[in-house]
Amino acid sequence: MVESQFSVETADAIIQSSSLSTHGAYTSVGTYPHQEMVDLVSNLSVKTGIAVPDLLQHFGRHLFGRFVEIHPGMTNAFSDVFSLLSALENTIHVDVNKLYRDAELPTFSYEQDNQQKMVFIYRSRRRMADFAQGLIDGCIAHFKENISIQREELPPQGEEALTRFTLVRAVDVKH
Ligand code: HEM
Repeated sequence: MVESQFSVETADAIIQSSSLSTHGAYTSVGTYPHQEMVDLVSNLSVKTGIAVPDLLQHFGRHLFGRFVEIHPGMTNAFSDVFSLLSALENTIHVDVNKLYRDAELPTFSYEQDNQQKMVFIYRSRRRMADFAQGLIDGCIAHFKENISIQREELPPQGEEALTRFTLVRAVDVKH
């Protein structure tokens, strides 16, 4: 994403200024320290002047589109945002864990009492709620739905950050 949306030079520069065990060579089957992503994003923020939360959201949106291309089986099974999000914890991320044994996934819980509204709570030691928000945005764009997201930080529990996302579907106005 950095190469295509900023430049190859920017990607090289942030790799050079981060101290990476891999010197920036990653493969999709490897597992790498989370801190390396944090360093890369922080250095991208310094270089571009764009705040870290904005970069993480942007990356989440971009990555959802890549998931659809790379793992079509995981996303094609769903026809709308609420059904995909409600399957994330018990289906999608479970399959991710089978593919990538060392994956460190967040936990999600959700409540949905009707077709209009869904409350979705993100919980993780990695404190990547901005990235989660970007993925949710990407998911909404993918299904071309009209859904607004409200976000509220909840008190952390130990090392874990908790964020509540409230998704509300716009009501179709019938003329
Ligand atoms: C809107 C839907 C999704 C949301 C909100 C979501 C959220 C997240 C977040 C926030 C993380 C970062 C780890 C953390 O914060 O602890 C993560 C990791 C990950 N997710 Fe999802 N995810 C979604 C859909 C998917 C889909 C469709 C796939 C695969 C097809 C997927 C595969 C992964 C993988 C491989 C990781 C990395 C785990 C690791 O590096 O150890 N996710 N997800």
